[in-house]
Amino acid sequence: MRLATLVKTMTASAAILGVGITVAYAALSGDDAIKARQECMKGQGKMMGVAVPMMKGEKPYDAAAVTAAIDAAGAGCANWAEFWPEDSMKGTVETYAKPEIWSDKAGFEAAGNKSYTAMQALKTTADEAAFKAAFPAVGDGCQGCHEKFRRPKE
Ligand code: HEC
Repeated sequence: MRLATLVKTMTASAAILGVGITVAYAALSGDDAIKARQECMKGQGKMMGVAVPMMKGEKPYDAAAVTAAIDAAGAGCANWAEFWPEDSMKGTVETYAKPEIWSDKAGFEAAGNKSYTAMQALKTTADEAAFKAAFPAVGDGCQGCHEKFRRPKE
């Protein structure tokens, strides 16, 4: 499936980091899967770009903006389960995914679930204190997966 088609099929209501969370390890092939997951991850980065300045006090806390950013990031990752076919371990597009994604599927799914849960918790916070209390778990969620399952960019 091409990325354009993929984007069209994403639902606005999709939860962050994918629907259902289980990883099918199928569907999209090779480069398409790599591109789709990198787009999804860029969206996660954008969400952090909204939340981190609020966390640091550089921008005023804005609950609606947090919710919107999390929803947008979630929509971009709606097809999460299709992003990890075995043939996307390498591609003509450079990927930073580590082989551990496929050798430790349970660990990878657990890392995804942890991040998803933290994000949902952040989304339901209603005031600045709760937001600041919930945010570190989101950062840990990203880092926890990246440490094990992503090669750093040189
Ligand atoms: C369950 C695992 C997992 C979680 C959770 C996760 N990531 Fe990632 N992330 C990856 C993998 C794997 C890659 C490398 C993808 C590739 O190159 O094929 C990646 C790549 C990225 C990239 C680089 C994308 C690009 O342009 O190539 C960014 C930015 C990123 N992640 C941000 C985040 C942020 C922010 C969070 C948390 C809100 C997060 N990620 C949570 C696994 C994860």
